Amino acid sequence: MNINEALEALEREGMEALDALSRSEELPVWYRAFLGRKGRLTDVLRALGKLSTEERPAAGKKGNEVKIALENAFNDRQEAIREAELQAALSSDAVDVTLPGRPVKPGHLHLSTRTLRRVREIFGEMGFQVYEAPEVETDENNFELLNIPAYHPARDMWDTFWVDDQVVLRTHTSPGQIRCMRERHPEPIRVILPGKCYRYEQITPRSEHQFYQVEGLAVGHNIRLTDLIGTMQQFAEKMYGEGRQMRIRGSYFPFTEPSVEVDMDCMLCKGEGCRVCKHTGWLEVAGAGMVHPVVLRNGGYDPDEWSGFAFGMGVERPAMLQHGIEDIRYFYGNDLRFLRQF
Ligand code: DAH
Repeated sequence: MNINEALEALEREGMEALDALSRSEELPVWYRAFLGRKGRLTDVLRALGKLSTEERPAAGKKGNEVKIALENAFNDRQEAIREAELQAALSSDAVDVTLPGRPVKPGHLHLSTRTLRRVREIFGEMGFQVYEAPEVETDENNFELLNIPAYHPARDMWDTFWVDDQVVLRTHTSPGQIRCMRERHPEPIRVILPGKCYRYEQITPRSEHQFYQVEGLAVGHNIRLTDLIGTMQQFAEKMYGEGRQMRIRGSYFPFTEPSVEVDMDCMLCKGEGCRVCKHTGWLEVAGAGMVHPVVLRNGGYDPDEWSGFAFGMGVERPAMLQHGIEDIRYFYGNDLRFLRQF
């Protein structure tokens, strides 16, 4: 075969091979095979050296023409394949703008927030204002002025996060009583103090290191234990339903005298006994009592003229009982499967 024929055959085969390509990855493979430094055109042109000087210019010209023809065909093919691939990508990712959008589900309030709002509402109707007090407290307000001095064994009741040796994360909402009394005296007081409290606790299904409490404080003239009991009774009925039975047990808190525990009949079994009330028929509602004379005095009230009651209750615990939640950690776990249920 002479060089001319070889070049023509090369051009034909190159064009055919090019036509057969469909994917852009195949383009460089073709290029290397036909036009590359070690490709077929180079092979054929190497034979030019063996030609006579008369034959060489025509064959060289022919070689150049084939090269340009293949190169042009390659460029066109490359363009066509890329364009086809782009179109395919665009149509496979196509967005149908006429589809209706996915509706955004509105969020809702956290169970703790809802419970707190209900508690606020109920006490609000009974004439209690909301008094906000800080979560970072002094040792003095959290303990000392509530009649819990440093050596007092009752400090063991509150495992404490210390910020430094004077400052704590409040272990209960009771220090707010001191702040409120010092701010309001000599006016009478009727407030609740809802808020977050912290304890250095082992975290278990029953105890978290952060939780809510709602404190209550009433200071006035001739306030008696029966006022406390009546207030608790009203609250329990509004919160958990008509006809709730109350039970008062003697207890001990350093900042009240006398101190009591307020229980109500179990709202699930109505006092019959069930798993929730551990078959006692009763649930704890609050720790409470008459404000201790020392605490009244620390707040700026003369205990010979003034008296008051106080109570402190949990928020998560009763919500758990009411809704059958068996692990307090769900309240702070941010798991939507839990949160969406309420
Ligand atoms: N502060 C107490 C606690 O965290 C609860 C409490 C008990 C608050 C009796 C009171 C009270 O105001 O009178 O355990």
